[in-house]
Amino acid sequence: VPKDKDLGEEIRRMKKEKNAVILAHYYVDGAIQDLADYIGDSLGLSQQAAATDADIIVFCGVHFMGETAKILSPDKKVIIPDMNAGCSLADSAPADKFAAFKAQYPDHIVLSYINCSAEIKALSDIIVTSSNALKIVESLPKDQKIIFAPDANLGRFVSKKTGRDMVLWDGACIVHIDISQEKLNALREKYPNAKFIAHPECQEHILSQADFIGSTTALLKYVVEQPEMEFIVGTEAGILHKMKQAVPHKKILPAPANENNTCACSECPYMKMNTIEKLYNTLYYELPEIRVPEDVRVKAYKSVMRMLEMSK
Ligand code: 13P
Ligand code: SF4
Repeated sequence: VPKDKDLGEEIRRMKKEKNAVILAHYYVDGAIQDLADYIGDSLGLSQQAAATDADIIVFCGVHFMGETAKILSPDKKVIIPDMNAGCSLADSAPADKFAAFKAQYPDHIVLSYINCSAEIKALSDIIVTSSNALKIVESLPKDQKIIFAPDANLGRFVSKKTGRDMVLWDGACIVHIDISQEKLNALREKYPNAKFIAHPECQEHILSQADFIGSTTALLKYVVEQPEMEFIVGTEAGILHKMKQAVPHKKILPAPANENNTCACSECPYMKMNTIEKLYNTLYYELPEIRVPEDVRVKAYKSVMRMLEMSK
């Protein structure tokens, strides 16, 4: 990493020179979001990855997001700033264990949340994200039996909303299950007029108190469009960067996390592995590169494409 140069400038220059596109999730550091060509939720990011005409996709997010981009655009070079940026949800569903679980329910179809490995996507019939899960489940025949993996909290939320009984895999996001009820109570007492909004990866008792539940994009839209001036946001705190840019006059607070979290608010340790220095190196060396075995990719492509088609 050059010490004498403006890294942001260099990243912009290399991006142009190499015909690369930077895709970033709302949870990465604000300075990285500001360098990105597109910032979005998991659905928006996969739509962008499928449509881009860039030669290189630089994915600032976590490993499964880079993998999804490679599944959709196998001829592009997909690179990510840190190969160790994983996801507790993806890790909660090892492919061999999941295959054995699936075999117990031969008459069920498998709906998997996009936060899973390429191998799990290959074992799934349809992929969903938090912005299309309700719509996709509702579009299936009423008697269709469903396995939902890997996020049990999102699964329970979808099941409750749609009235559909689903077999749930017991995975969770370490960030969203870590919101402190006690501290949230204190914050809500201090800001009685604040709307509490939450991501469906949160636990049921947290979701039951929320004024609005949605994906990161939906939460951002809510804060921008609602007339209220104060919000407490129950998701990873990176989303506050865009919220504050969009409505700087509003008071936006992150939901407080338990003591063991890396910060007082909810932060994803994997998303925070993305740094400007690593982004610079990734673009400079065009490494590390995401690769997906072709037999896995072809199967995973089907379930991801079904999602994209059903989300139109
Ligand atoms: P969305 O941005 O699709 O709501 O997903 C949230 C998330 O946890 C991504 O890791
Ligand atoms: Fe995974 Fe949770 Fe981090 Fe999203 S916030 S990448 S679901 S651990």
